[in-house]
Amino acid sequence: MKKITKAVFPVAGLGTRFLPATKASPKEMLPVVDKPLIQYAVEEAIAAGMTELIFITGRNKRSIEDHFDKAYELETELENKNKQKLLETVQGIIPPSVSCIFIRQTEALGLGHAVLCARPVVGDAPFAVILADDLIEGAPGAMEQMVKLFDETHTSVLGVETVAPEETGSYGIVKVAPDARGHQQVEHIVEKPRPEVAPSNLAVVGRYILTPRIFDKLVNTTAGAGGEIQLTDGIAALMKDEAVLALPFKGVRYDCGSKLGYLKATVNYGLQHHEVGAEFAAYLQSLARN
Ligand code: UTP
Repeated sequence: MKKITKAVFPVAGLGTRFLPATKASPKEMLPVVDKPLIQYAVEEAIAAGMTELIFITGRNKRSIEDHFDKAYELETELENKNKQKLLETVQGIIPPSVSCIFIRQTEALGLGHAVLCARPVVGDAPFAVILADDLIEGAPGAMEQMVKLFDETHTSVLGVETVAPEETGSYGIVKVAPDARGHQQVEHIVEKPRPEVAPSNLAVVGRYILTPRIFDKLVNTTAGAGGEIQLTDGIAALMKDEAVLALPFKGVRYDCGSKLGYLKATVNYGLQHHEVGAEFAAYLQSLARN
């Protein structure tokens, strides 16, 4: 079985929960302190050993391509002004051994459809999918933990987390049972179930490792919840042919597709930031005293 070197980043969604901020620029470019969400996701993938980054983009997503491209004017300007540290920051976004590929999803038909758009580049290899709006703080990163399980089992792996029972309608929800080796095997998966009918409150949260057979399933997946072609439905079909595991990774997840989750991430990353963390903490304390 091959090593996982390809990571797919679906970034073609409309980001309606963040309008008007996402009217002309993608939600994946929203910064948490000083880095856009998509850069955190890319760093997590690279730390997990990925060397081919495949972005599924849509309209208004040019800034993502620009972010990972060489910025000649900016770099020359920083060089001329002797701003070496900033120059290194800009040049270090993507290491030379890593390549970026951009594919257009011409219509936002759903996450399952976005993943299917990666097929011509992924081919017959297992691959990762990372949703940048789920920002996960962890050491090692969530994807690295999942790759470790994949290397052991050669099985699709879903990153999961327990959510509040009333929140099941916002996630793909799984029911799991331990397999012979003690791994959590997915028995049932359903997209956005209402709490009364949800099989559990274990949610899939924006991290997947999938075997290439998923593409055959997605080709035959019709629109499901919300009228979209759902990755969850493709995974449900895949489970008829092969085992799929769930990994409750160690780490803290921020749902940066929602305003509250994004604010929480900003505060927590702000508090830890090497430049501004201490002053920010003092500021928050002064607010709490008032
Ligand atoms: P979301 O469900 O968060 O949808 O998509 P969204 O459009 O981005 O945001 P809201 O709900 O309208 O605010 C989950 C992920 O799947 C991608 C999104 O970019 C996001 O990373 N996606 C979704 C696509 O790439 N294509 C699609 O057709 C739909």
